Amino acid sequence: MQNAALHKTKPDASNHCKIPFEENKEASGFHDIIGQSRKMREVFDLVQKVADCDSTILLNGETGTGKGMVARAIHQRSKRRNKPFISINCGAIPENLLESELFGHVRGAFTGATSSKQGKFELADSGTILLDEIGDMSSDLQVKVLKVLEEGEFEQVGGAKTIKVDVRIIAATHRDLSEEVQKGNFREDLYYRLYVIPLMLPSLRDRRSDIPFLISHFMEQSNRKNDRSIHKITEEALGMMMGYAWPGNVRELKNMMERLVVLKGSGEISAQDLPSEIKSTHKYEPSTTIEISDEGICLNSAVTEFEKALILQSLEKTKWVKNKAAKLLHLNRTTLVEKIKRHHLQPCNA
Ligand SMILES: Nc1ncnc2c1ncn2[C@@H]1O[C@H](COP(=O)(O)OP(=O)(O)OP(=O)(O)O)[C@@H](O)[C@H]1O
Ligand SMILES: [Mg+2]
Repeated sequence: MQNAALHKTKPDASNHCKIPFEENKEASGFHDIIGQSRKMREVFDLVQKVADCDSTILLNGETGTGKGMVARAIHQRSKRRNKPFISINCGAIPENLLESELFGHVRGAFTGATSSKQGKFELADSGTILLDEIGDMSSDLQVKVLKVLEEGEFEQVGGAKTIKVDVRIIAATHRDLSEEVQKGNFREDLYYRLYVIPLMLPSLRDRRSDIPFLISHFMEQSNRKNDRSIHKITEEALGMMMGYAWPGNVRELKNMMERLVVLKGSGEISAQDLPSEIKSTHKYEPSTTIEISDEGICLNSAVTEFEKALILQSLEKTKWVKNKAAKLLHLNRTTLVEKIKRHHLQPCNA
């Protein structure tokens, strides 16, 4: 499957399963969300179902899984698409500034407030606001956000006038908010007010079948952006990238591809080009169910990947004692050793 995706001179865009945004092409600023795994298809289905209502969405997922992209996609599919989409990272702004960033302030509200300023809620009026990293917000501010959610109104810092807004709220966090509620770090009332439509973005290691498509996409993107001409990645390198855990998820993969493309410049990316953390972790264990996408599947590559994964699993189960691993696979030792060599398998941290 990955060969079909990666060994083309020009990766074919039709290999990428996208949310059908074609009808909304005029809504600019939208970036393609690449993914054809079952988990991503479920995300796309949900995005389509919920985009056109005003319900609050709670996006959850590890860093770099695409929460920002999905929030923007929801906005662009909604009836608010021609209105503002405002995003604020509640975890990145110091607490004393966040209130004024969210709600605005009047002139003289605090030292340095030389003029009045609109906050993000006002700027997002009739549109959508993304409250990113909401799990990092202080409990004082949580109360104020709850009020906007419940009544659609708030006061600017230092202001007496109540301001009413019509804003669709999308909240995002990498934290487990229910756990934060249990720990007393997040208000239960706000949690339930946000938890209307939860949308969980899978980590990259939970949808490894998307990795070849993402590599292909980012390779093409980095070539274009940096005037480079890398059009191939060797099977060995691809296997290693599919085996890596990607703690930074798609963002890490995107940055890695940019680095590889820029540094290599032309030709193909091979295992030697990969950083040691990727070379030394080979733990690819695909699920036993392989999906055939609309574009089809390269049976030979899929079978090779499957074989590789089973061999790895058996080796890890037996702590790389090859006799034992061979027994688990009903192979003789020599055949196993030959296959290990052919697939360039090595223990973690070797
Ligand atoms: N499915 C995807 N297809 C293409 N690009 C993606 C995909 N998912 C994420 N990206 C890219 O990865 C980067 C991180 O995505 P994004 O900012 O949406 O993640 P996030 O979940 O909001 O991360 P964080 O929690 O750190 O804010 C962006 O550059 C985005 O373009
Ligand atoms: Mg984000």
